[in-house]
Amino acid sequence: MRRFLILGAQGQLGIELQSAFQDAGQVIALGRADCDLSNPSSIRAAVQGASPDVILNAAAYTAVDRAESEPELAMRINGEAPGILAEEAKKSNALLVHYSTDYVFDGTKSLPWVEDDPTNPLNVYGKTKLAGERNIQQAGGQYLIFRTSWVFSPHGNNFLLTMLRLGRERPELRIVDDQRGAPTSALALALATRQIVDAGRGNPGIYHMTCAEETTWYGFARNIFARARAEKPWAQVVGIPSSEYPSPAERPANSVLSNAKLKSTFGVELPIWKSALERALRTLGMLGCDGPQ
Ligand SMILES: NC(=O)c1ccc[n+]([C@@H]2O[C@H](COP(=O)([O-])OP(=O)(O)OC[C@H]3O[C@@H](n4cnc5c(N)ncnc54)[C@H](OP(=O)(O)O)[C@@H]3O)[C@@H](O)[C@H]2O)c1
Repeated sequence: MRRFLILGAQGQLGIELQSAFQDAGQVIALGRADCDLSNPSSIRAAVQGASPDVILNAAAYTAVDRAESEPELAMRINGEAPGILAEEAKKSNALLVHYSTDYVFDGTKSLPWVEDDPTNPLNVYGKTKLAGERNIQQAGGQYLIFRTSWVFSPHGNNFLLTMLRLGRERPELRIVDDQRGAPTSALALALATRQIVDAGRGNPGIYHMTCAEETTWYGFARNIFARARAEKPWAQVVGIPSSEYPSPAERPANSVLSNAKLKSTFGVELPIWKSALERALRTLGMLGCDGPQ
C-alpha cells in the first residue's frame, strides 16, 4: 500500500488533499505542530518517520503582506524547507509534490504566463516561493511543482470567506479591478493532483494548475454576491484601481497562468472558476438560485 505524507494538513489545500487521497493508500497528515517547516530537523524527522512514497507539501507561509516584514521566516518556510523536503524525498526515492504561485511573475505580460516565461517576483512572498522552486530542482529528486493562484475553499482564510463576511457587515465594498487572475478552488487542485499522482511518476517539472478562465478581484467579488444566498442584500461592490488600495506587498497586474502544459502532458483540466465557486458555495450551504453574473 502506498504511503502519502501530507504537510500543512490544516490549510485550505491540506484539508482537500486529505479527502482526495483518503482511499489512495495510507495517508499521514501533519500540521505545524508535528512538522514545523521553519525547523529543518523537524522536517527531516517527519519525512524519515513517515517513510512516504509521495510527499504532498501544502504547507507554506501564505500571508503575502505580512511576508514583507517577516522575510527571513517566509524564506525559511517557503524557500529553504522545500529544498530540505526534496533532499529527504530523494534519499527515500519518494515523489515530492509541491505548490507554488502566480506571484513568481511580475504581471507585465498581457497573455497568460507559460512555465518557461522569465520569473521576476514583485514581493517577498513571490521571491521566497521562487527560491523554493529552485531548491527543489537543485536537489535532483523526483518532483512535481504546481503553480497556482487565488486559492479559495469553504475553510480557512481566503477571499471568498472574507467577501461573505464583509458583504454582510458593510454597505459598500471597494475591490481592486486592475489585477487579473484565475480564482482556483483547493478542491479542484486536490482532485487534479490525485489524478496526476495516480497516473504515475513520469514527467517531473513545473506545471501551471489553475481553474479555467480569468477575472479580476472585483469580478470575483461580484460573482460571489450574485451566486450566494443572503437574508438581506449584499454590499454594493465598487471597482477601484490598485493605486486606491495601497498594501505592503506589490501584486502583479496580470497573473493569469496558461494551463496548456498541464493539459497536454497529463490530460488534466480544472473546472471554470465560476463552477468551482458554485461548488464551494454549495458546500457552505449558501448557493442561491440563478442570478445575474
Ligand atoms: N492561498 C492562495 O491564494 C495561494 C495562491 C497561490 C499559491 N498558493 C500556494 O498553494 C499552497 C497551499 O496554500 P493554501 O491556500 O492552502 O494555504 P493556507 O490555507 O494558508 O495553508 C497553509 C498551511 O501551512 C501551514 N504552515 C504555515 N507555516 C508553517 C510552518 N512553519 N510549518 C508547518 N506548517 C506551516 C499553515 O499552518 P497554520 O494553520 O498553523 O498557520 C497552514 O495550515 C501553498 O504552497 C501556497 O503558497 C496559495
